[in-house]
Amino acid sequence: MTPRADRASERPSTATFLGSFPDPLHKLDPVLPEIAFIGRSNVGKSSLLNALVGAKGLAKVSATPGKTQTMNVFRVGSQESGVGSGPRGSHPSELQTPYYLVDLPGYGYAKTSKTNRAGFATLIHRYLTERSTVVGIAWLLDIRHDPSKEDLTMAELLGERGVPALAIFTKADKLGTAAARTQARQIARQLGLAEDQTHVTSSKSGAGIADLRATIEAALGGREE
Ligand code: GTP
Ligand code: MG
Repeated sequence: MTPRADRASERPSTATFLGSFPDPLHKLDPVLPEIAFIGRSNVGKSSLLNALVGAKGLAKVSATPGKTQTMNVFRVGSQESGVGSGPRGSHPSELQTPYYLVDLPGYGYAKTSKTNRAGFATLIHRYLTERSTVVGIAWLLDIRHDPSKEDLTMAELLGERGVPALAIFTKADKLGTAAARTQARQIARQLGLAEDQTHVTSSKSGAGIADLRATIEAALGGREE
C-alpha cells in the first residue's frame, strides 16, 4: 500500500463487529478482502482500528498488553449493509466496496501466560502465511521505540509473504512534531523501508488517520480481482 494524501477520506464508513475467531483460517461469509492489523502487544492496533472507523470502543482496548486474543473481524461499509456502530447520519452517497478490518493479537511481550503468548504467535503466523483473503497489512510500530527483535522477524516474514504492507508508526502524540519526524525516519532506516512505505499516526489526536483511511480505500479500490 502506498500512502495517498490527495483524496483523504475525512469521513469514516459504517463498521460492524462480525465476530471473534480463535482459528485464523476461519472462513468468513461473505468472502471479502481483508486488511489485517499486526504489531507488538500494546502498540495500538485496536485503537487505530476504532479511529479509522470512527467508533470508540468497537474493538476492545486496554493499557495491559495482551488484550486482543483472537482474530476479531469488523465489516466496513457499504451503507446498505450498515447496521453498525459507525457515526449516526453517515453518508449514503459514499458507497465503498465492503471489506473486513481484522484485529489480531499482538506479538512480543504480553501480560499473559507463556502458553497464551505462543498461541498468539502461532495465530499471527498462520494468518499471515496461510490466509488467502488478506490483501493488505497494516503493520504497527510504536514511534517512540526502535524496532524489537520480533519486529525484525516480522519484517522478514512480510517480505517473504509479499502482501502489500504499510508500516504505521503509532502514538505520535507522545512526541513533538519534529521528534516524531526524526524518529519515523530512523525506524524506517532500521527496517530498510522507503518513506512511502510508512505512515505516522495518533489514534489519540487523530493525526494521520484520514490519510490512512484514504490510503486503505485507494488500495482496495485499485486492486485487480
Ligand atoms: P493488544 O491487543 O494487547 O495487542 O494491544 P493493541 O495493540 O490492540 O493496543 P490497544 O489499542 O489496546 O492500546 C494499548 C494502549 O495504548 C491503550 O492504553 C491505549 O489507550 C493506548 N494508545 C493506543 N493508541 C494510542 C495513541 O495514539 N496515543 C496514545 N497516547 N495512546 C494510545
Ligand atoms: Mg488489541
